[in-house]
Amino acid sequence: MLEGRKLALIGVGTMGRTLARGLITSKAADAEQLCGTVAHAERAAERSKEVGIAVGADNAAAARACDVIVLCVKPKGAAAALAELAAAGALDHDPLLVSIAAGVGTAALEIAAARKLRVVRAMPNTPCQIGQGMTVLSGGRHATADDLAVAETIVRPLGRVLRLDEEHMDAVTGLSASGPAFIYVIIEALAEGGVMVGLPRAVATELAAQTVQGAARMVIETGRHPAALKDDVTTPAGCTISALLALEDGKLRSVLARGVQEAARSAAGLGGGGGCS
Ligand SMILES: NC(=O)c1ccc[n+]([C@@H]2O[C@H](COP(=O)([O-])OP(=O)(O)OC[C@H]3O[C@@H](n4cnc5c(N)ncnc54)[C@H](OP(=O)(O)O)[C@@H]3O)[C@@H](O)[C@H]2O)c1
Repeated sequence: MLEGRKLALIGVGTMGRTLARGLITSKAADAEQLCGTVAHAERAAERSKEVGIAVGADNAAAARACDVIVLCVKPKGAAAALAELAAAGALDHDPLLVSIAAGVGTAALEIAAARKLRVVRAMPNTPCQIGQGMTVLSGGRHATADDLAVAETIVRPLGRVLRLDEEHMDAVTGLSASGPAFIYVIIEALAEGGVMVGLPRAVATELAAQTVQGAARMVIETGRHPAALKDDVTTPAGCTISALLALEDGKLRSVLARGVQEAARSAAGLGGGGGCS
């Protein structure tokens, strides 16, 4: 579906780099189909070398040269960057805009662009770097089925993709976009437990990470409820049920659920200038 389309990544930070690398590694796009921009011109050469695509600091030139603009700047700068492109006439060729900015709605982007811009909002996460990401897409008022298909072609090589109504985007941000950070803390904590009972740290970290990965794959591949899978591990009067009760005493379940709720609440305030992810 990319079919020779050119993509301008406005912002080549953590996520811009993730998208560019994922597209090139998966062969969904050639490096020549991609270009990027950064705010600080002095960083452009280093970013270009790092990612293997042309990177500059002229957003309007990059946008004019491309069919799809992927907006990867921080949420508080997203509307302003788009308004500058509109003012420079860099949207006059009617490009598709894919925005990954957390908390910035398609309506706000249409207003900033001052036109019937075709906008698809995408919420990826950092495991997209290794093709194990989770991305949710939703289309704005003027986005067509083809636009959503193009956006899906961009993110499909980076992992799993779901399409949802935009009303769910802050919840998605709180769960799957912020979620890798929660899981890293869990892996670190499990490994600390392993170290506490005598395992070398590297071994404990490997055991913890593979256990998280294996358990996640069991949920995805068997389609069974996590509670049923948990019950399979708990022998009556065994060590696992004993540990699970200790975790319940520590409110692990509600702490994690509240973490997602807090991240979603924070994401909802981002477009106006907060700070997340
Ligand atoms: N990080 C995540 O896990 C994650 C997950 C999902 C969605 N997101 C969203 O992805 C977006 C980017 O996040 P990030 O973590 O990649 O941020 P980041 O690492 O800080 O990268 C931001 C990039 O944008 C560039 N930039 C800033 N203003 C610009 C402008 N006016 N024109 C051109 N480039 C500009 C910066 O350039 P300089 O380097 O020169 O400053 C930098 O390359 C955010 O909107 C965030 O909500 C992030």
